[in-house]
Amino acid sequence: MIHRDIQQVLYSEEELRQRVKELGCQITADYAGKNPMLISVLRGSYIFMADLTRSINLDVTVDFMVVSSYGAGTVSSGQVEIKKDLSDTIEGRDLIVVEDILDSGNTLYYLMDVLKARKPASIRLCTLMDKPERRTKPITADYVGFTIPDAFIVGYGLDYDEKYRNLPYVGVLKQSVYEK
Ligand code: PRP
Repeated sequence: MIHRDIQQVLYSEEELRQRVKELGCQITADYAGKNPMLISVLRGSYIFMADLTRSINLDVTVDFMVVSSYGAGTVSSGQVEIKKDLSDTIEGRDLIVVEDILDSGNTLYYLMDVLKARKPASIRLCTLMDKPERRTKPITADYVGFTIPDAFIVGYGLDYDEKYRNLPYVGVLKQSVYEK
């Protein structure tokens, strides 16, 4: 049953499951013999993080950050605020930053710099969704689930006005929902 506010399902539960499994296999191979630390950037990445970590066949640790960029719906100042920092130290660790979506790149461009300054052994970025045509900052992800066009998508962790995060699929939101 598709939610009444969804125009079209972009990726079904099954397609998401399959792609996340593939990303997990790739990370497992790339980090063989290592114990990477996965950092979930909340809130959007929580479901992807839960599924991705269960697809990785290595001893991993997990940690969480909450960041917010200023100016939603207005002109962004480019500033990003850390609302909740990591619990653990990351010096010498192999980090994989896990995001739900890479859009303008503003959030991650800032965050990767903050994390690099703490001297991890390595740092890579894994995003479920990538919207390269929206990019304003020079940043690319090392692992990308899906490269998508510039549509308003929700579900599988992604929200509009804090709703729809619990949809098990990724769908395009009806225009009438955000234009009223
Ligand atoms: C989303 C997403 C990224 C950021 C990407 O978070 O999770 O953190 O936007 O956009 P950017 O590339 O333009 O910086 P959002 O601020 O919507 O918060 P949320 O994770 O709580 O949904």
